[in-house]
Amino acid sequence: MKKIEAIIQPHKLEDVKEALKAIGIDGMTVLEVRGHGRQKGHKEVYRGMEYQVDQLPKIKLEMVVPEARAEEVIHTLVTSARTGKIGDGKVFVFDVVEAIRIRNDDRGEAAL
Ligand SMILES: Nc1ncnc2c1ncn2[C@@H]1O[C@H](COP(=O)(O)OP(=O)(O)OP(=O)(O)O)[C@@H](O)[C@H]1O
Ligand SMILES: [Mg+2]
Repeated sequence: MKKIEAIIQPHKLEDVKEALKAIGIDGMTVLEVRGHGRQKGHKEVYRGMEYQVDQLPKIKLEMVVPEARAEEVIHTLVTSARTGKIGDGKVFVFDVVEAIRIRNDDRGEAAL
């Protein structure tokens, strides 16, 4: 299993969720976060307005997926979240050791 964390532009959340749903990825955690990338100290556009980059609002998606589907999920995420402008975000991928469904003790990919 892989954990995929994606930090995206908030206005791309619906597009990304729809794209993931279309390939059958259901479970995810959505967090409202703030951050900055490498343009710290420079200006970045958010919803048509220029902001001094320091702590821009972003959405973080976290999802754990079967290893065999990780590349497909990453591709779907990146293509649905991309505008081509700075600040589009980033994807981080981690190995997951175990997953457990609390309701019934399902483990591993069966718990996803
Ligand atoms: N190295 C990092 N570690 C953790 N979070 C990061 C990192 N880089 C970016 N982020 C997070 O991703 C968000 C978007 O980053 P951003 O897309 O601006 O990255 P970038 O490297 O500056 O690329 P770009 O040049 O396309 O803007 C940041 O606001 C921050 O929350
Ligand atoms: Mg940036």
